Amino acid sequence: MQSYAMLIEQTGGPEVIRRSEIDLAAPGPDEVLIKHTAIGLNFVDIYYRSGQFVGRDALPLPAILGVQGAGIVEQVGARVETLRVGDRVGYVGTPGACADRRLIPARKLIRLPDDITDECAAAAMVRGLAAEYLLRRLYKVQPGETVLIHAVTGGVGLILCQWAKALGATVIGTVSSDDKAALAAGYGCDHAVVHTRGDWVERVLAITDGDGVAVVYDSIGKDTFMDSLRCLRRRGTAINFGTVSGQVENFALQALLHKSLTVCRPTLLSFVEDRDEYEAAAADFFDVVRRGIVRIPNAQRYDLEAAAQAHADFEQRRMSAMPVLIPRSA
Ligand SMILES: NC(=O)c1ccc[n+]([C@@H]2O[C@H](COP(=O)([O-])OP(=O)(O)OC[C@H]3O[C@@H](n4cnc5c(N)ncnc54)[C@H](OP(=O)(O)O)[C@@H]3O)[C@@H](O)[C@H]2O)c1
Repeated sequence: MQSYAMLIEQTGGPEVIRRSEIDLAAPGPDEVLIKHTAIGLNFVDIYYRSGQFVGRDALPLPAILGVQGAGIVEQVGARVETLRVGDRVGYVGTPGACADRRLIPARKLIRLPDDITDECAAAAMVRGLAAEYLLRRLYKVQPGETVLIHAVTGGVGLILCQWAKALGATVIGTVSSDDKAALAAGYGCDHAVVHTRGDWVERVLAITDGDGVAVVYDSIGKDTFMDSLRCLRRRGTAINFGTVSGQVENFALQALLHKSLTVCRPTLLSFVEDRDEYEAAAADFFDVVRRGIVRIPNAQRYDLEAAAQAHADFEQRRMSAMPVLIPRSA
């Protein structure tokens, strides 16, 4: 089966992404051939492409970018009993998505409910399933707690904000501008703090009467993490789940002593490797979307072949949250 993919042979800027024709074999016994209808673009694709992830965190080259997508099952392997030709499916955490068709182990696929569109799944599954484990498993947000969410108008930030509110939390969110503060308020953020004004730690402490927050969700990393620790209450939890500004450096464990803090640097993969947990997380996420608890903004669409442009726009903060790449054949 002929397909095409957007791949890299070396790390670098968006220009290293190029189109390549690929020849797909028939699915192995536990595999499925899917035709993508939409492919999500995530920050992790930028880390893979740019070389921010190295060693065991990097993708072996050459690599087809993309870790999430949605599509239609076209062929199933001999041992696959859970899926049929024609099923609509979505997935997270499986590199190789930037192609019009791909082979993928059946256990990586989630059948999509009728009321979840392909584009919503492709745009939001990584972000939604991340929000699920961040709020409900890694740290269990309790009603009445105050939480701090950095980049609250980003893709993950918007989902975290709405879901944390539904769990009964008060949400403080950092944003880069007054416009984004207004956007955050529209998604239920109680206190939007414009971090570009410089005094965001003091603002967070003032909002909490000096106590600090129960948990901080920090996707920024290098530029914010040590200050995030200052925003925590005694025995608070700091979660660095993203490194948009670079990886946290020179972190001294002793910094946790004074307030007995807990720190974590998680990856979604650890929370969806187990099939039962993966299915439960996806069901929980689809449920909050279905019930309108979490609203997913319309995805920004690019042709799959414009992947380099989409990378550049995403990296340069020139787009709204949650871009998707659409193959010509979709
Ligand atoms: N560990 C996991 O399981 C997991 C899962 C999913 C995602 N993530 C990570 O979560 C992060 C966010 O992903 P996303 O999809 O939400 O991305 P996104 O939609 O692009 O959001 C990123 C946000 O970061 C802000 N930003 C960019 N540079 C910044 C800086 N130097 N200082 C402060 N804010 C900055 C941007 O807001 P402004 O333009 O307004 O500043 C933007 O809203 C990424 O690092 C991603 O890898 C991790």
